[in-house]
Amino acid sequence: MLPTPHLKDVDYEKIYEPSEDSFYLLDCLEDQKSYLESKFKNHVPVVVEIGTGSGIITTFLLQCILQEALYMATDVNPSACTCVLKTASHNCPHRAHLVDSLQMSLASAVRPNTVDILVFNPPYVPAEEVPELSPDDTKDTQWLDLALLGGEDGMVTTWKVLNGLDSILSAGGVAYILFCARNHPESVAQQMQRRGWKVDVIIHKKAGWEVLSILRFLKA
Ligand SMILES: C[S@@+](CC[C@H](N)C(=O)[O-])C[C@H]1O[C@@H](n2cnc3c(N)ncnc32)[C@H](O)[C@@H]1O
Repeated sequence: MLPTPHLKDVDYEKIYEPSEDSFYLLDCLEDQKSYLESKFKNHVPVVVEIGTGSGIITTFLLQCILQEALYMATDVNPSACTCVLKTASHNCPHRAHLVDSLQMSLASAVRPNTVDILVFNPPYVPAEEVPELSPDDTKDTQWLDLALLGGEDGMVTTWKVLNGLDSILSAGGVAYILFCARNHPESVAQQMQRRGWKVDVIIHKKAGWEVLSILRFLKA
């Protein structure tokens, strides 16, 4: 089993504390290591993690999965944007320069069709609405709501990414996105397949009373 990044001095009152969902993404990426190494053996991939939180996933990728890649970690939460850089430097001092952190919604300011690997552990909990936050006037605790609450079926934020996936990913690009059962991942997979995507279930596991799945999306 590959080592989990060490998280030092992270303020979990402001930043999502890694949980089963985060750890299942690490398992998923460990499972996909040889696939990704061989898929990107001829060029340095651009990796984007949307909603990086503590930076545990981007740092794990940098440390254990693809040591030669360019990483961009996005989050709307300003504390998360600082934290990912600290987590990367703390765990991989010699390669932390490969990670950039961008405060933005989703991957909105990333150049179209440049992302080779996209990873997203979204706010997936069904809720009345997704909180609307402005970086300037938001109380710290509200960032934790934004980390969790996904609106109708918990899918409002995730659908924004899925609907834009075609213009985010490069020609050979691949995305890993996490779902809970209440997001109806089978139906999402069917809808994406009808749009011409190849969709595979990489992880499907119980997490307490919840069942989490991680789907891999490839341009077919
Ligand atoms: C479930 S947490 C995952 C954090 C981390 N990746 C992990 O797995 O531990 C979701 C993250 O997405 C961020 N987020 C929520 N909405 C976002 C948006 N529209 N754009 C970018 N990040 C967003 C939250 O601030 C939070 O850090």
